[in-house]
Amino acid sequence: MRVFVIGANGFIGHHLIGRILSETNWDVSGIDVHSHRLVHHLQDDRFHFLEGDMRAHEAWIEERIKESDVVLPLVSIATPALYIREPLKVFELNFEENLKIIRTCVRHRKYLVFPSTSEVYGLCPDDELREDAGRHVFGNVESQRWIYGVSKHLLERVIWAYGIHEGLKFTIVRPFNWIGPGLDGADAARSGAARVVTQFIWNLLNGEPLRLVNGGEQRRCFTYISDGIDCLMAILGCKDARCHGQIFNIGNPSADLSIRELAGMIVGICGESPLRPKQLPVPGLIDVPHEVYYGPSYQDIPERKPSISKARDILGWTPKVGIEEALKTTVDFYLAEFIGSQKPPHSLNQD
Ligand code: UGA
Repeated sequence: MRVFVIGANGFIGHHLIGRILSETNWDVSGIDVHSHRLVHHLQDDRFHFLEGDMRAHEAWIEERIKESDVVLPLVSIATPALYIREPLKVFELNFEENLKIIRTCVRHRKYLVFPSTSEVYGLCPDDELREDAGRHVFGNVESQRWIYGVSKHLLERVIWAYGIHEGLKFTIVRPFNWIGPGLDGADAARSGAARVVTQFIWNLLNGEPLRLVNGGEQRRCFTYISDGIDCLMAILGCKDARCHGQIFNIGNPSADLSIRELAGMIVGICGESPLRPKQLPVPGLIDVPHEVYYGPSYQDIPERKPSISKARDILGWTPKVGIEEALKTTVDFYLAEFIGSQKPPHSLNQD
């Protein structure tokens, strides 16, 4: 089988490629603007990689799509701070560029596995979010945060329509707060634009207080990356048409934490890690209104728990990694990764 991953160096992309190369005999092509997370794979004969911007390599991308069996367009800006700071970039990259890929898959009759997001449920108040029954409830237009979820939501609808009207073979997946090594880089965390787990680890390492947006009572279900990749691999390896035309939530409903609880766990795990620099002060938690943290056009999602019965019944998949282990592995990875990128030690006590 030949797989093509657009956004190969990203969080999901590099983990997926590592798994494909270590566990299958499939061929993988990839493109990304960066390659630092792929260094271990670049010499592999089964991995064909182009470093560059997808917008400058449309002909190369079309050739790879033509010769592939399955295409995963993983390129996306996926950090909420950037939805507020750069909404048009989110639309142009996440929506417009991915639409081109979808259309090329239609043209060449290729199987598309599309990574959507838990954010397509928006403010849906259901206790458990179900793929084929959950409602999609977005905030007002002034709240720029929704540009990400709405872009993905419309792409899902476009894919669905291509499936019905033009025979596109597809599977849509909705990841729920996947976490793990390689989630966000130091640059994102330094500017306060990383996702919450990496942001908190960065704050700890810099002796900064962990900032709980609007008090931190909002909840998320955190899914360890290896569980997410297990599910993607089950979809890619599926020998029949069971997954075609399906949407799957991929999340861990039992790893359901408030952001305040998450902060407490990360502080505890970090404190016990042998990798934590000894001189670090233990920072406190502070409440910050969202207007201060993100800006006025942010709106939060109070809670978000997936139903995963479809992935369980159709693919036999359930998550295996508990939240304690997921956070411990992630904290250890980032303590090692971020050391050297943090602020100089003399500034550690200033916050
Ligand atoms: C994420 C992102 O939109 C996408 O990465 C993704 O598609 C989707 O949801 C997902 O992974 O399922 P969100 O869960 O809000 O959105 O992302 P985070 O930035 O990790 O924030 C989680 C919560 O922590 C939010 O309520 C946020 O306000 C809060 N937060 C974040 C803090 O309280 N303090 C911080 O320093 C950072």
